Amino acid sequence: MKVTVKRDKFDQAKVDVLVVPLYQDSPLEAASSAAQLDDCLDGLLRDYLDSRDFSGSLNSTTLLRTRGLISAPRVLLVGLGKPETCTVDHWRQASASAATAAQKLGVASMAMLLPASELDLVTQAQALTEGTVLGLYALKTYKTGEDESDDKMQLGKLQLLASGSSDQHKLSQGVKRGETIAKAVNLARDLSNSPGNDITPSYLAKIAKQMAKQTALKCKILSKDDMKALQMGCLLGVAQGSVQPPVLIILDHAPNGPSETPVVLVGKGITFDSGGISIKPAANMEDMKMDMSGGAAVLGTMQALAELEYPRRVVGLVPASENLPSGKAIKPGDIIRAMSGKTVEVINTDAEGRLVLADALAYAVAHLKPERMIDLATLTGAVVVALGAHATGMMGTDEDMMAILKTSGDHTAERVWQLPLFEDYSKQIKSDFADIKNVGGREAGSITGGAFLKEFVGDVPWVHLDIAGTAWTRASHPYIPKGATGVGIRLLIDALEALPKSKVEVEAETKVKAQGSSKGKKPSATAAKDAPNAVKAKA
Ligand code: BES
Ligand code: MN
Ligand code: ZN
Repeated sequence: MKVTVKRDKFDQAKVDVLVVPLYQDSPLEAASSAAQLDDCLDGLLRDYLDSRDFSGSLNSTTLLRTRGLISAPRVLLVGLGKPETCTVDHWRQASASAATAAQKLGVASMAMLLPASELDLVTQAQALTEGTVLGLYALKTYKTGEDESDDKMQLGKLQLLASGSSDQHKLSQGVKRGETIAKAVNLARDLSNSPGNDITPSYLAKIAKQMAKQTALKCKILSKDDMKALQMGCLLGVAQGSVQPPVLIILDHAPNGPSETPVVLVGKGITFDSGGISIKPAANMEDMKMDMSGGAAVLGTMQALAELEYPRRVVGLVPASENLPSGKAIKPGDIIRAMSGKTVEVINTDAEGRLVLADALAYAVAHLKPERMIDLATLTGAVVVALGAHATGMMGTDEDMMAILKTSGDHTAERVWQLPLFEDYSKQIKSDFADIKNVGGREAGSITGGAFLKEFVGDVPWVHLDIAGTAWTRASHPYIPKGATGVGIRLLIDALEALPKSKVEVEAETKVKAQGSSKGKKPSATAAKDAPNAVKAKA
């Protein structure tokens, strides 16, 4: 998808479809440029609104032929819902609905009017771009033979049509952000949707190495031998039932050099979770190819941070392994020793995510001296019971970061909901035979998963995001097709950009200023933060 920004001239846009977003039950003037366009269309839009054939309810679409009145042969009306309740997410949804409708027509290009709003232009352009690119995501399939969609034209061009006075630079900046972030999300979706026989730990390592070649990221892969040397007994324990060797992927984004204290992101990378010896029931076991979705989110986030030239250091870690039963697999009752030295009694081999994360978190604490850590993992079925598909479970020791993530969840519609992590829960994972055990009984299953991870973070401020319910969907949504959602990337980028400036960052800026350069080094990526979330139509 090639996205460009164009000034004015709605009637002269040479595209196959001109998309006109409209608010529900509002006069055309509420979407200012639509009224202008309607003059060229001999009042066609007003007719439609007056007749109530198109109400403007969220995601509704209507296609009109323009009979030579303007250059575009078709106008596609798309509803934004009521102006009072309209949020940025409605823009994402509406642009996705429009793009999907245009795609079904089999056309190659579309243009979109910017709806009237008080949102800043970066946010506007980013939302429309994200919605379009995420909405057009096609599930990667392995179907051979005649695919109907093969002969159809691919919708490959989007023009955002802004009014003459609007700041083109800001719009372009929003488009770039939207494209970069949506591309990262779609990469994560591809990785999670693809089958486990292709997406092995070694394959994830290959993707990370490729990413490092194409960006300024540094990539290091810890092999099984490295893990042995580091005594990562938990990660090695999970991997020992499989013939696929485990890897620990390390991607380093260090714009101010390697001495800066990083934010560390850790993503669970179980490329297939059968449960191991504590094997899962057969029904829907195939979905467990997505058990590396936390890892995919970390890879996607690192790519986007590098491309957006995020100003501070972030290190992404992905402990990757299969979880399979075999004569070599770990068994219930086995006691393994984590890199941190703690001994762990394995009660259930299906609680493997916390084991691989334990060694990755301990590695970060020992070797990276993080300022703070965030992990993402499809960790527990219990979080699906508690929150369903509409919120990621959040817990941790970093209250400030959790407050930021809560706000970012609302901005990005990747919502999070905090669960308590009282010390009391830790009692549930005390073991009779080892320091701790890897399950804490039926009660508070997601929290005892978090309590287990807490044993390995030392005193580094840390947040755990349990994405088991949000990483995969069976229901289709305007910009989230069924299958892998790519959850976490938009959330993390928004949250990382909302962090207060680090010491090194401030020092780097002062140095630039002292050198007499009056030009600011980087454009404010946080401009969007100041914008109100609700979009109000100009009456
Ligand atoms: N990968 C699963 C969790 C999961 C469940 C992810 C549903 C996505 C959808 C995890 O490894 C697991 O099996 N957890 C166990 C833990 C239990 C044994 C304590 C679970 O939730 O049943
Ligand atoms: Mn499991
Ligand atoms: Zn798992």
